[in-house]
Amino acid sequence: MRDAEPKAIHLADYRPPDWLVDKVELDFALHPSQSRVTARLALRRNPEGTTGAPVVLEGDGLTLVRLAIDGKPLAGSSFEASPARLTLAHPPADAFVLEVETLVDPTANTQLMGLYRTSGNYCTQCEPEGFRRITYYPDRPDVLSVFTTRIEADKAEAPILLGNGNLVDSGDIPGTARHFAVWHDPWPKPSYLFALVGGKLAKVADSFTTASGRKVELGIYVEEGKEARAGYAMDALKRSMRWDEEAFGREYDLDVFNIVAVSDFNMGAMENKGLNVFNDKYVLATPETATDADYSGIEGVIAHEYFHNWTGNRITCRDWFQLCLKEGLTVFRDQEFSSDQRSRPVKRIADVRMLKAAQFTEDSGPLAHPVRPETYREINNFYTATVYEKGAEVVRMLKTLLGEEGFRKGMDLYFERHDGDAATIEDFVASFADATGRDLTQFALWYAQSGTPLLNVSGSYDKEAGTFRLDVKQSVPPTPGQAEKKPMLIPLALGLVGPDGRDLPLTLGNTPVEHGVIEVKEAAQSFLFTGLDARPVPSLNRGFSAPVNLVSDLTDADRVFLAAHDGDPFNRFDSLQRIALELLKTGARTGTLPAPDALITAAGAVVADTALDAAFKAQALALPGESEVARELGSDVNPDAVYAARKALRIAVGTALAADFARVYESAASTGAFSPDAGSAGLRALRNLALDYLAVTGAPEGIARAKAQFEAADNMTDRSSALAVLAQHDVPEREAALDAFYRRFESDALVIDKWFVLQAQIPSEGTLDRVKGLMLHPAFSLSNPNRVRSLIGAFAAANPTQFNRADGAGHAFVADTVLSLDGKNPQVAARLLASFKTFRQLEPVRRASAEAALRRVAQTPGLSADVADIATRSLG
Ligand code: PHE
Ligand code: ZN
Repeated sequence: MRDAEPKAIHLADYRPPDWLVDKVELDFALHPSQSRVTARLALRRNPEGTTGAPVVLEGDGLTLVRLAIDGKPLAGSSFEASPARLTLAHPPADAFVLEVETLVDPTANTQLMGLYRTSGNYCTQCEPEGFRRITYYPDRPDVLSVFTTRIEADKAEAPILLGNGNLVDSGDIPGTARHFAVWHDPWPKPSYLFALVGGKLAKVADSFTTASGRKVELGIYVEEGKEARAGYAMDALKRSMRWDEEAFGREYDLDVFNIVAVSDFNMGAMENKGLNVFNDKYVLATPETATDADYSGIEGVIAHEYFHNWTGNRITCRDWFQLCLKEGLTVFRDQEFSSDQRSRPVKRIADVRMLKAAQFTEDSGPLAHPVRPETYREINNFYTATVYEKGAEVVRMLKTLLGEEGFRKGMDLYFERHDGDAATIEDFVASFADATGRDLTQFALWYAQSGTPLLNVSGSYDKEAGTFRLDVKQSVPPTPGQAEKKPMLIPLALGLVGPDGRDLPLTLGNTPVEHGVIEVKEAAQSFLFTGLDARPVPSLNRGFSAPVNLVSDLTDADRVFLAAHDGDPFNRFDSLQRIALELLKTGARTGTLPAPDALITAAGAVVADTALDAAFKAQALALPGESEVARELGSDVNPDAVYAARKALRIAVGTALAADFARVYESAASTGAFSPDAGSAGLRALRNLALDYLAVTGAPEGIARAKAQFEAADNMTDRSSALAVLAQHDVPEREAALDAFYRRFESDALVIDKWFVLQAQIPSEGTLDRVKGLMLHPAFSLSNPNRVRSLIGAFAAANPTQFNRADGAGHAFVADTVLSLDGKNPQVAARLLASFKTFRQLEPVRRASAEAALRRVAQTPGLSADVADIATRSLG
């Protein structure tokens, strides 16, 4: 609960901390409702802080029991304590040990920040500002300290006690039923990287020997009985550790690395030093319970959290404005890891799909903000697609501009200069500028300017001169707080494709273009390519080298040609998508889908191309989603019309290519034991796409095929894909399959989440009532973030026709849920509310109902800072 409107915090107001903490000793006596925390902080005045400044420590909902300085109890007159702050106006010296005892109630902690309980176990979540819910502390990332943690608990209740760093002592407490463990982390760290876990957990053990020959004990802790489900996560961890040594020269730096899987978690996972805590969704997998997407999610998140050990932990952030310093960079690193483990082009396509769906959407609405924001009211609301995914794109562009070698030199210099630091984006960019001698001033605008740049490109061929001129215009649309923009430095990878499908030489004047990348820097710029004896088709923004919206003068015929012949797989995919998008836009606007012949020709060529791998085909043949069409339309969107257009196009493609899809379905049938590898996953993806196309009209054969697959499947990918097909159709087989699925997986919450998602996404009128009904189902709980995301989150974010019902009932329902959730878990409530961020795109009736729902939320008294912030900005 907030007592006052939270103040805006500005990057420009940054000041170094007044007090530093040289050493922290924490002592936890775990108890379900009264956990006692004793903190001994070796405080020292920061010479760079304000002269004579008081000691001000942050708290959040704390109960103070006792205070002492250098061992002497402190009189009430010499400090001021509230649940939110502890102030020593007149510190006794410039260095002293402050001992603070607080009581916290982990069972009552429903926000899942600070010390809380999950399935009876104790765990913590401190990023970004949760440590202050455990003890009073300078809870900011630029205060680094060496932590020693003693944990004491009832032996029966919590036989496992884990902390950051290495275990240095443990034992029973004589004469009691309690025991203890002491963990020491030698690496100085900010409080947000602190963690402890206590409870009944089973350990899956393994080890890893680093490049320099040090042996690291690896542990993955899961609920008892789930050990067999942690094998893939362990494998992914070891591959991540090796990869970081090979790709970035980074070795692990403690004797142990532990991961704990918990079932109540606000986010995906958390990179606490030596003790990562994970949403169990990103750890547990068996072929029967996890899809291929789950497996690749596990691989990516395990890698991501592990990679934070260097990008986030060894080098941390000076302040929360620099969040992308660790997140954007670490997403880039996990994307590269997965690309190396799987198919690079397919990974790129999947990442760009995600980027466009989540980040481009965010960037085009009221919640748009720079990759490095300059102001915030609630930092929890800035763990966004812009900070993470666009942040990763910026790092990727840096690599494209500097080349493999220059990029590695810059990274090496960054690690060398800043190991042990709380760094800034300026530090990061300077490492690359200094390592390569390149001026990156204009490039740095990517961190400061929000909004997706628009590139307008047209080409003209001069047969006589053998030249091709590319005219490029760029602009960045206005976004909240930023009316005017400067031109950006845009690395544009391109090729000129000749009539035989091969790349023609790429020469500017007399100079060959290095690595096929030109640099767009001006608002308007022309590039003259020479030595061309045939009209080329330009293949633009290859590999999605820059996160921009591209408008070009390519014709459908050019796109059909590129879809079949482009040497860049990303653009083969993108050409098809672009043809489809134009059809869908027109279809949604006019109510009539134009003749899809070009798309069918191009799609047919892709299906038939034996040189292409299945995973690629599955991506290329999956039409753009409804929300991408909506974003492309930009205004006056009627989601029903978008849905109808897309459905019509799916029917057209499915009908025209029915024979091909039938062949794909029969020939790619999986053989042998299940393997989650990328190749096998690709075959399943293509086959399940074929299944969907073959059932798209709702004709009995298609439904029967889906039903048969649902019943016969030996893995979750095939079973849930078949169920997803059935769920799209109003047929009796749907309910029967949903019931069977529930009965089969009743006791497995993560699988039941899939059951919630599929039902929440049904694009028909009955869905809202169905979702409301499911909220009362015993498997649902408003207290568990995974359940909320699966049922309500999926409805709001992935069912555009029903969330945006013309009668406003979808909007009202989500607003109501946000309000009932806010008192329990403000972070999850705020994320749910953020699904309104596209409301301004809607046609007037739906726009008005969304706005009314948002206003109703905004005007509710006693809102959390999290929800208030999203409501205010969404309406702004
Ligand atoms: N730092 C985590 C990650 O991206 C995300 C996270 C943020 C988790 C805040 C919990 C709370 O790896
Ligand atoms: Zn991260």
